[in-house]
Amino acid sequence: KLKIAIIGAGSTYTPELMEGIIKRKSALPLHELALMDIDDRKLSIVGGLCERMTAAAGMNCGVIQTQDLDEALRGADFVLGQIRVGKLPARVLDEQIPLQYGLIGQETCGIGGFFKAMRTIPVMLDIAKRMEELCPDAWLINFSNPAGIITEAILNHTKVKMLGLCNVPYNMNKSIRESMELPNAELTYVGLNHLSWITAIEQDGKDYLKTALDRGLNSETMKNIPSTGFSKELVQLVGAIPSSYLEYYYYKDKKLKLLKDAELSRGEKCMQIEEELLDIYSNANLHSKPELLSSRGGANYSEVAISLVDAIFNDKQEKHVVNLLNHGALPFMEDNDAIEVTAVIGKDGAKPIAVPDFDNKHIIDYMRMVKAYERETVAAAVEGSEAAAMRALMMNPLVGDYQTAHDCFHELKEAHKDYLPQF
Ligand code: G6P
Ligand code: MN
Ligand code: MN
Repeated sequence: KLKIAIIGAGSTYTPELMEGIIKRKSALPLHELALMDIDDRKLSIVGGLCERMTAAAGMNCGVIQTQDLDEALRGADFVLGQIRVGKLPARVLDEQIPLQYGLIGQETCGIGGFFKAMRTIPVMLDIAKRMEELCPDAWLINFSNPAGIITEAILNHTKVKMLGLCNVPYNMNKSIRESMELPNAELTYVGLNHLSWITAIEQDGKDYLKTALDRGLNSETMKNIPSTGFSKELVQLVGAIPSSYLEYYYYKDKKLKLLKDAELSRGEKCMQIEEELLDIYSNANLHSKPELLSSRGGANYSEVAISLVDAIFNDKQEKHVVNLLNHGALPFMEDNDAIEVTAVIGKDGAKPIAVPDFDNKHIIDYMRMVKAYERETVAAAVEGSEAAAMRALMMNPLVGDYQTAHDCFHELKEAHKDYLPQF
């Protein structure tokens, strides 16, 4: 008997997850699917489509829609977290207010991502605390952003079993294997969530990284990032292939200009897409995921999330890139730092694969600096400490300046005050 609970199920991304569940219906004998959201309207529209999808696939599991967290969690085996506290209007504030201070406005990086963490951590900690009581053996698989910082918070402040997920690693690995024409290559993926690099591309005992760098190879470009790409010089001097989120760091000024010149912020665009999607989902004749969903940045989420559930449930001992505590895998990071690396997944969870003699100094130093930001961010979120918030933002490469950080912090704090119980 398998019960999956989706928290934030009113998200228009949920049909993506349903597709993954349906594809694996024989490997995952689903008995109950609990769809939980606090947004009545979205829950009933998205939930309705999910019910039609399972029925059309001939699955005889019970699908329940609920606004009650406890009801969703009780007896669950897997809890999928995909919440957006304050919804898209809050994201738009994270994207737009920083621009007035000359700062990058983005939902997971910089001061925008910092505030998304401030809003999301208290709610996720609450979900985890309820899990400790109602389904203590369940796995929490979280893709609520900022996914790495949420992992850092949950694994250091609660007892739940949890893994953090993002689709960037999957898309990077896939696109590099394709463009190098090395379908079976083993890639070394090192980093934090949305701050990661591919540092080796091995097949048949040979490392093709240098070949890739000499070609100036880039990895995937995410749909949601106004991309400029990395130059050949840049990838060569970094000595690794960066994720496209590194564009916010390595090309900060160019990126800032792009964001300022954009007619609509990404969040505003997503609000439009979301309304269109809800309209499509409302059609009682629709029984599958519509094409329009692929214009969002979450491509392959279903694959990433549900194949992970499958790997745990069926003890597959498969390799997946996940966010989890380091525990020595990267010797240059602390044991309780959440990192994003390849791990072997089975019924007892995830064992990170060690990268013992990693020697890319640039990556080591960059990760340590951003981890210092992330640690202080979790402290600020948990304690409601403005001092920790300032220490965090001064360590963030996209912020840095104290006065700017302070002034923008206060404006964002006021703008988000309904969602910041800790301050
Ligand atoms: C990528 C990132 C996700 C992020 C998404 C945003 O998939 O990995 O963490 O949520 O893009 O896409 P959106 O369509 O919301 O801008
Ligand atoms: Mn992500
Ligand atoms: Mn102050």
